[in-house]
Amino acid sequence: MIDLKDKRALVTGGTRGIGKGIVLRLAEAGAKVVFTYASSESLAKALEDEAAARGYTVYGFKADAGKFSDAEASVNFTIEKLGGLDILVNNAGITRDNLLMRMSEEDFDSVLNANMKSVFNYTKLAIRPMMSQRYGKIVNITSVVGLMGNAGQANYAASKAGMIGFTKSIAKEVASRNINVNAIAPGFITTDMTDKLNDKQKEALLNIIPLKRMGNSDDIANAVLYLSSPLSDYVTGQVLTVDGGMVM
Ligand SMILES: NC(=O)c1ccc[n+]([C@@H]2O[C@H](COP(=O)([O-])OP(=O)(O)OC[C@H]3O[C@@H](n4cnc5c(N)ncnc54)[C@H](O)[C@@H]3O)[C@@H](O)[C@H]2O)c1
Repeated sequence: MIDLKDKRALVTGGTRGIGKGIVLRLAEAGAKVVFTYASSESLAKALEDEAAARGYTVYGFKADAGKFSDAEASVNFTIEKLGGLDILVNNAGITRDNLLMRMSEEDFDSVLNANMKSVFNYTKLAIRPMMSQRYGKIVNITSVVGLMGNAGQANYAASKAGMIGFTKSIAKEVASRNINVNAIAPGFITTDMTDKLNDKQKEALLNIIPLKRMGNSDDIANAVLYLSSPLSDYVTGQVLTVDGGMVM
């Protein structure tokens, strides 16, 4: 039902987990997609091959999302390869968890850089072509942790809460140019990022999730698909929580 034919999308951090799910879902809906990756050439190649086998147009581009010059190179690559940019998904993110007493300055800076500065980099670069074509969809992958906080994740929570303030501000700045800017706050989604949780932690989580399961990357990709499509044309500056009802 959702048709993204001829739409051009850029997804940061697309080689695995939620990012990979988003790349494949947008491509399945007909979009041409560039995804960025920080280091793993082999995962990037595997995703390009998987997408090509399904008949999708998908390219990988190596770029550190926290570096403005890398972000600029990937936006330029997207415009050159796909002929423009209609959809930006800021998905790249990391965790460096520790209690504040033990958190190093480096772990604070690296999380803010990868999760928050990256959103500044890509959004600033993407709105220029979107403003001139008077069309664009920007979706920022934040987290429920940015809404409710989490002991041991002050750096991560700050970066994700920062993304929410950023999303709302830019939504106001670019609304007149027909650009929608929204955020998705996933709850606990089964990926490499949450693999670190032990069974006891997972069980405790299930007790506070009304829908009684962890989410998967498709749950998030489906929400991205909606916010990237004309179905959400009258929605901007919002945070869509996709968490099985954990945070209400
Ligand atoms: N898994 C969850 O439960 C969960 C919950 C809430 C929010 N999120 C958010 O969803 C997004 C994806 O998470 P995931 O669970 O798939 O994690 P993941 O670790 O499996 O994947 C993250 C991706 O981002 C890439 N990345 C990290 N830093 C980068 C950088 N500087 N430049 C380019 N790429 C970079 C990684 O290479 C990887 O491909 C993140 O922003 C994360 O914070 C995840």
